[in-house]
Amino acid sequence: MRPTHIRQFPDPVLGKISSLVKRNDRAIETLIERLIVTMRHQPGGIGIAAPQIGVLKQVAIVDLSIKIPGAKQLILINPKIISFEDEDIFREGCMSLPDYTANVRRADRVLVKWQDMDFKDCELETTGLEARCIQHEVDHLNGLLFVDRVSSLKSDVFRRKVYLK
Ligand code: NI
Repeated sequence: MRPTHIRQFPDPVLGKISSLVKRNDRAIETLIERLIVTMRHQPGGIGIAAPQIGVLKQVAIVDLSIKIPGAKQLILINPKIISFEDEDIFREGCMSLPDYTANVRRADRVLVKWQDMDFKDCELETTGLEARCIQHEVDHLNGLLFVDRVSSLKSDVFRRKVYLK
C-alpha cells in the first residue's frame, strides 16, 4: 500500500469534527492500514489522525516507537479523554503544518478510553509524550490543530528552518 497525501493547513477538512465509527464499518481496517503506512512514510511521524488523510472518522494512531524503543502502537477508535491532570509545555509539530512548531500547554497525565479493532473497550492512563500525542491526535478528530492551543501566535509559534529541497 502506498502512503496517502497528507492534508495541510488551511485545508478545511482539518477543521471539521469526525464522526463516531460504527461497529459494522467495513472500511476501518483499510483506513487503519492507510494511516499507519502514511505515518511511517513521514520522517519523525509519531501519530496521525484520519482527517489528515481526508477521512472524517474517529480513528487515530499513536506510535512512539521511533522515540521510545519498545513503545506499543495504539490504534484508537472513538477515543475519548476522560481526565486531564497536571500541566506541561512542550514543543510540538504536525504533519499538517510542516513548516511550524509551537510551545503547547497540555495535560501531562490523561485517562483515555477507546475501542480497538475488535470493538472492545480499552482504557489507558498515561503521562508525558504519550499523553501529549494522544491529546494532539484527539484534537485532530475535533477539528483542532496545535496552533489552536497556543497562548500567543506571536511568541509561541516558530517557523522551522528552511531546508533546500
Ligand atoms: Ni498533527
